[in-house]
Amino acid sequence: MSERPTTTTDAGIPAPSDAHSQSVGPNGPLLLQDHYLIQKMAHFNRERVPERVVHAKGGGAYGVLEITEDVSQFTRAKLFQKGARTESLVRFSSVAGELGSADAGRDPRGFAIKFYTEEGNYDLVGNNTPVFFIRDPQKFSDFIHSQKRRADNHLRDNNMQWDFWTLSPESAHQVSWLMTDRGTPASWRHMNGYGSHTFLWYNAAGEKFWVKYHFKTDQGIKNFTAEEADAQDPDVHIRDLYTAIQRGDHPSWTVQVQIMPFEDAADYRFNPFDLTKVWPHGDYPLITIGKWTLNRNPENYFAEIEQAAFEPANFVPGIGPSPDKMLQGRLFSYPDAHRYRIGANYLQLPVNRPHSPVHTYNKDGAMAYHNSGDPVYAPNSVGGPQADPELWKGEGYEVAGEIVRSAYRLHSEDDDFVQPRALWEKVLGETDRDHMVHNILLHANAPEVTADMKKRVAEYWRNVQKDLGDRVAQGLGVNGS
Ligand code: NDP
Ligand code: HEM
Repeated sequence: MSERPTTTTDAGIPAPSDAHSQSVGPNGPLLLQDHYLIQKMAHFNRERVPERVVHAKGGGAYGVLEITEDVSQFTRAKLFQKGARTESLVRFSSVAGELGSADAGRDPRGFAIKFYTEEGNYDLVGNNTPVFFIRDPQKFSDFIHSQKRRADNHLRDNNMQWDFWTLSPESAHQVSWLMTDRGTPASWRHMNGYGSHTFLWYNAAGEKFWVKYHFKTDQGIKNFTAEEADAQDPDVHIRDLYTAIQRGDHPSWTVQVQIMPFEDAADYRFNPFDLTKVWPHGDYPLITIGKWTLNRNPENYFAEIEQAAFEPANFVPGIGPSPDKMLQGRLFSYPDAHRYRIGANYLQLPVNRPHSPVHTYNKDGAMAYHNSGDPVYAPNSVGGPQADPELWKGEGYEVAGEIVRSAYRLHSEDDDFVQPRALWEKVLGETDRDHMVHNILLHANAPEVTADMKKRVAEYWRNVQKDLGDRVAQGLGVNGS
């Protein structure tokens, strides 16, 4: 008898043949009763779920978060208590390309982490940049449309991208990042991750703080130049992460936070909830709290990475949302996407299921296999689960005001250009600046970018910093305009 297992149908019935369909004689027509053949063809037709509408191309791994410092004065969250070790999953991705697109293209990179904590899943769905292109979710789908493909020729179009960016000056900080070599990281192991938004932390006494997360790569920052990025294998980043973990070279990140006392937010020099702004380190220094290490590859990419579902709304006691409008929009958007992309019970899949018990009154739906059983309603007098308001003490705060549609209230030093200007003037060295100008010119000199748009591009960069704008204008041939 062979040592190889017998092929079965998906119902576990031994399969009669791996090669031959059931036919009427060797040359005859096939039979509908060949259930095994029908199952193979029908299942194959259903192998794809819709790709993510953004961040479609990515890869991931498992790891562990270890907290080395005591931050219990800021948060009661169990995963952040000194000595805690929490299993986690990460998915890295690029934003605009489709499922088969090239890993190394110029784009922000997704940095989405799911922490399987003893109090349920905590998802931190960030990027490799601390800021974003827009500050109101109303503009998100328009922004993404401008980055993806035109309606008529189905091509990506740099003119469309600059049209959106130059009409949305709040994008200048993120576009500056994107046009440095950090827009083309050499690998996912060699980039930082940022929670980007401001979040709420509260401690066991109910005291509140605002927090930003920084995951600093222990491998060092390493980027491709534009030319190097163009020359890469399309799967360079997936391959790099998988093979590094496979050979035991486990990448790690130092986990840091910035903490702002709750009351500071009202008159801090920048609006602290505006996602196009950082908190300068001089104002709120980085505090190291632990280390996060990736140590295990997935065994089944589709089951564990393609079906992974991250949701910025998954907070655990001790952590909550801030009034950042982008974050508020995302709280709705992701679970809505998962119900459509994967199905109502996506949280019951092994990769998404919490490692702590689930006691919920939600029930049934497609593919349900993990319902809690009776009782199926609350309140009940038969011993069903009960909520614990004590766990959330501290999450609430006073909010009042007229209902409006309005930009954020400006704080004393708020404008769209002051922080990208600081990046150019204080952070970038000469080589970084040369590369940034080169990268902008490669992008804005694409054949579809019109002469009028080039003038707007030069003006956009002059608003960031005059020398930068002049260099761009010269390279685009719109000098003196
Ligand atoms: P700091 O001098 O304290 O910090 C500058 C930061 O810039 C460092 O964290 C560094 O990150 C990062 N950096 C270095 N080189 C580059 C690069 N080529 N592209 C992008 N980032 C780079 O300054 P401030 O905190 O006062 O911020 C000044 C500007 O720096 C900001 O306007 C922002 O553009 C940028 N920045 C600020 C961050 C923040 O959270 N405050 C975070 C990242 C950037 P690293 O240590 O990883 O090299
Ligand atoms: C993926 C919406 C802003 C990071 C997604 C997806 C949607 C979405 C619908 C696909 C989810 C899926 O199908 O699994 C939005 C909206 C935003 C927004 C509406 C603003 C209003 C941001 C910001 C960040 C971010 C600011 C980072 C700071 C990510 C990441 C993924 C993602 C990392 C991929 C998650 C994964 O790997 O599965 N976004 N997004 N997004 N988004 Fe956003």
